[in-house]
Amino acid sequence: TAQKDYKLWLQYNKVTNSKILNEYQSAIKGIHAFGKSETIAIANKELQQGLSGLLGHEINSSTNENTTNTLVLGTVNQLSTVLQQNTKKETASINNEGFVIKTIQSGNKKQILITAKTDTGVLYGVFHFLKLLQTNQSIENLAITDSPRINIRMLNHWDNLDRTVERGYAGFSLWNWQKLPEFIDQRYIDYARANASIGINGTVINNVNANALILTPQYLEKVEALAKVFRPYGIKVYLTARFSAPIEIGKLKTADPYDVEVQKWWKDKAAEIYARIPDFGGFLVKANSEGQPGPQNYGRNHVDGANMLADAVAPFGGIVMWRAFVYSEHDADDRAKQAYSEFVPYDGKFRDNVIVQVKNGAIDFQPREPFHPMFGAMPKTPLMMEFQVTQEYLGFSTHLVYLPKLYQEVLESDTYSKGKGSTVAKIIDGSLDNHKITGIAGVANIGNDLNWTGHPFAQANWYGFGRLAWNPYEDSKTIAEDWLRMTFSNEEKFIKPVKEMMLESREAVVNYMTPLGLHHIMDTGHHYGPGPWVSNLSRPEWNPTYYHKADKNGIGFDRSSTGSNATAQYAPEVAKMFDNTATCPEKDLLWFHHLSWDYKLKNGETLWNSLALKYQEGVNQVAAMNTTWNTMGNYVDEVPFKEVQMLLNIQHKEAKWWRDACLLYFQQYSGKELPKGVEKPT
Ligand code: GCU
Repeated sequence: TAQKDYKLWLQYNKVTNSKILNEYQSAIKGIHAFGKSETIAIANKELQQGLSGLLGHEINSSTNENTTNTLVLGTVNQLSTVLQQNTKKETASINNEGFVIKTIQSGNKKQILITAKTDTGVLYGVFHFLKLLQTNQSIENLAITDSPRINIRMLNHWDNLDRTVERGYAGFSLWNWQKLPEFIDQRYIDYARANASIGINGTVINNVNANALILTPQYLEKVEALAKVFRPYGIKVYLTARFSAPIEIGKLKTADPYDVEVQKWWKDKAAEIYARIPDFGGFLVKANSEGQPGPQNYGRNHVDGANMLADAVAPFGGIVMWRAFVYSEHDADDRAKQAYSEFVPYDGKFRDNVIVQVKNGAIDFQPREPFHPMFGAMPKTPLMMEFQVTQEYLGFSTHLVYLPKLYQEVLESDTYSKGKGSTVAKIIDGSLDNHKITGIAGVANIGNDLNWTGHPFAQANWYGFGRLAWNPYEDSKTIAEDWLRMTFSNEEKFIKPVKEMMLESREAVVNYMTPLGLHHIMDTGHHYGPGPWVSNLSRPEWNPTYYHKADKNGIGFDRSSTGSNATAQYAPEVAKMFDNTATCPEKDLLWFHHLSWDYKLKNGETLWNSLALKYQEGVNQVAAMNTTWNTMGNYVDEVPFKEVQMLLNIQHKEAKWWRDACLLYFQQYSGKELPKGVEKPT
């Protein structure tokens, strides 16, 4: 059964509802594929594999294109003229990666056509079609046109060359550098296939805390081998570039972006990479952040650094993703303000092939953060979203947390940068400010664990990230439901309660870790478990006490106009809302305000009581998740069923740990009793 988990959401179990099975079996008698590319062959094979599982028998894949009940696939220019004519309108409306799935009826003949402008589009169409069957939807009268809204939909692997994974909780890195390039692990192919099934088209295979060795010929040869595996799945490889690489592997004395030898070194390096990997995507750079080298080491700035690298890859069509995750101890009144202060003045100064990659919130992937104020503040610069799929601050791969809920909350946030409706989604998909390069990255939660992600439900976060990268306007509910159907079962008695459990899981983790806008109160270094008392770290902005500021008078970080004034970094409408305790959403209250323990919340309770009750609610929610899951044994294989059961037990225990630790600690300041309904710490 371990092998079943390995198949992720591509289980292709036989359809159990006989009426639906019948419909599918009679509608699909054969497959005809136009075109002979590697990608079309992959699409064809996927269909055969998927259909033989779902329908319970093999489908002939070389059927005559004119036969009725044939599934026809191919790019538009490979189709017969009749089929081309038949889908002209639809294909005109899709982009290069989009697809059309259409039922075509003429006389007694009925066919389903999957077409696109490119081979990759056809592959995406095939996966979409299989999803319809996996989720038991009707295929009677199909008329689907779909295109991704964001160009670059990528995973960021924080994988080191020794195969450890920074903030990775699912085993070691997938990439076996020692055996590459000759040995191609089947896992690379399955990885590419899983990504293609959700539309992911890029991967940064190494850590943002980069090792320059990846850029040496010894490693580039291995990277080239991976790129070759991923290419037919529509996935481009990108690398992180260590800014000091010209010194470390190039024997230069400096990495100053103004130095002509340094510029030449990067140009030559780019040419060398592109000679091996003609479709290489480009570089992701973490510079002058958490001790990483960067242009500031030479008195230059982010624009200087990014543009130098951009010029090196531009002749080959490459891009530079320059990260905005910067903060320094020298300007520590409010870490949340620093990235904005450092980057916003550079708006419009980056080259056309630079995209600035911004984390969803201004601190660091906390269970809840208000959207990053940079979104909406740099209209002349394309901004790329960076979400974390790996659960660095959300219980690693031990806690069940359905992250698309978090992603959706951020994507739907209104920046008001061009008036009401200027959502974060519209900024990153380029529609608000008319950008050509658009992107979204997810820090991967994948490793070499048998089930890829450690927690069986963490697969849903990989899946859901891909779905939202394709369409940032999609509802996380739909995504959860699809994932459950594809992975486990189509039984309503399973879907409904387990979907609810997933959808609530994100609020649960916020409640038992950081309710009401608290943040960064985890234990230090590993970031697992509570540590609100930690106050002795070498950099002030690493200490949890810096963030919650609990004292006898109250709790919370005053980022309003009476405090650090971080609220002023938002558009006036948003700034005003956050600035005022009466309009600030309670879920963000202590992010923006320092309030007395007796402050009254909308429920009429004091802040202290409300905080305690939220912690308790989180614990109760996990208890309810346990109860729900315990009745689901009939719908799930034994191994994942038991694994989730054990994991939920740990999560329940640790939710109480969080509640007790935080409440006992904060109680020293509030000096108040726990309200009724909150369990006493044992
Ligand atoms: C967090 C994380 C680091 C990581 C950094 C980054 O701070 O703890 O491990 O390197 O983010 O995103 O660069």
